Amino acid sequence: MCNLIEIGIHIDGKVMLDMDKSSNPHIAISGRSGAGKSVAGQKIIRNIAVNGAGSIIVFDMHRLFSDENIFPEYRNDIKEKSHDIKANSAGISIPLFSPLMYTDGNAEEMLDVITSITNVLSSAIRLGARQREYLYEAVAFVAEEKSYEKYGLASLDRALNMVNDEKAASIQDKLRYIFKKNIFHNGPNFIEDHKINILRLSKFSESTQALIVEIILAYIWRLANAGVFMENGLCLFLDECQNLNWEKTGIISTILSEGRKLGLQLVLITQALGGSSKADLTRCLLQAGNQLFFSPPENEIAMVGKLIGEKRQAYWQMRLKTLKVGECVVNGSLIINEAAYNGALKIKI
Ligand SMILES: Nc1ncnc2c1ncn2[C@@H]1O[C@H](COP(=O)(O)OP(=O)(O)OP(=O)(O)O)[C@@H](O)[C@H]1O
Ligand SMILES: [Mg+2]
Repeated sequence: MCNLIEIGIHIDGKVMLDMDKSSNPHIAISGRSGAGKSVAGQKIIRNIAVNGAGSIIVFDMHRLFSDENIFPEYRNDIKEKSHDIKANSAGISIPLFSPLMYTDGNAEEMLDVITSITNVLSSAIRLGARQREYLYEAVAFVAEEKSYEKYGLASLDRALNMVNDEKAASIQDKLRYIFKKNIFHNGPNFIEDHKINILRLSKFSESTQALIVEIILAYIWRLANAGVFMENGLCLFLDECQNLNWEKTGIISTILSEGRKLGLQLVLITQALGGSSKADLTRCLLQAGNQLFFSPPENEIAMVGKLIGEKRQAYWQMRLKTLKVGECVVNGSLIINEAAYNGALKIKI
C-alpha cells in the first residue's frame, strides 16, 4: 500500500496523506457537482500508481476514466499504468468457484465457497430465506458439476431452470442481465499487479452496476482473507457511488472497518454527504480516516463545518463557503512540509 500520498498544496507547502498514522487508509471525497472531486480522485490514483505500490481497481461506472475525461495533467501517467477490462463486451474473468489457498497452507473448503457465493448474491439481490435456500442448492449444483468452469455464471441460470418453481424464477429474474450477458466467466483473476485495473461498467444499468460491484467486492474480500493483498495492498476506487449498499452488514462497510489489516484501501467519492435518508452513507463516509471536503451543497455547510471542527465550526463554515473549484478542506493525518500535522487544512489540489 502507498503510505504517503501527495494530495495538494497549502499556503505553507506540500501536503501529503500519511496512511501509517491515520486511523485507517480509506479516503472519502465529498462536495457538490463540479467542485473538483473526480479530478482529486484521479490525482490520488495517479500518485498511488506512479509510486508503484500495490494494485488499483477503478470501478468506472460513468466513463470518468475514459481518455477524454481524465484531467490532462494526469492522463499520460494513468494511461501508461492502465489495464482495461471491457466488462460489457469481454466479461470479467474470475475463478469464482475455485477454492483459495490460505497463508497457513490450507485450502478454502468447497462448502465455504458455496456459502460465500450464495451469501453475496442473496444479499445483493435481497433474497428472502426461502429463496436463499433455492439459490444455495443451485450454487452447490454448479460447484458439483464444475459447470462454472465451462459456462460461466450463466450455469447458475441453468441450475435454477431445473427447479421448476416460481421462487427460482424470481431469482432468475433478478439476475437476468448478469445471466444474459454472462458477465462473469472462469479464468485467471482479472486484477493485474501494480496496475490501474479499470473496470468499464458504464454500459450497464445502475442496478446491474451495483450488483457487479458487490459480487467483485465480495470476491476481493475472499482473496483478502486469504492474504493476497497483505504484502502490496489493493486500492479500490469508487466515484459517484452513492447508490451502492452502505448498510452496516454490507461489503463496503465491512471493508471500511476491517480492510486495513488485510491490505485493502477504499477511495469513495459522492456528491452529498448524506441527509437523514442516507444515514448509512454518512456513517460510512465519516468512517474514512482521511476526508476531503470540497465545496458542499448549501444545505450541508453547517453540518460539514461541525464535522471538521466542533470547536471552530463558524471558522470552517466560512472557509467551506469560499472554496473555489479544485480547493478543499482535508482532514486526517497529514504531513505538511515534512512535518506531521493531525487535523484539517484548506488545500488546493
Ligand atoms: N484541481 C483542479 N485544477 C484545475 N481545474 C480543476 C481542478 N479540479 C476541477 N477542475 C475543473 O473543474 C471541472 C469539474 O471537476 P470535477 O469533474 O472533478 O468535478 P466533480 O466534483 O467530480 O463534479 P461531479 O459531482 O459533477 O462529478 C473539471 O473538469 C476541471 O475543468
Ligand atoms: Mg465527478
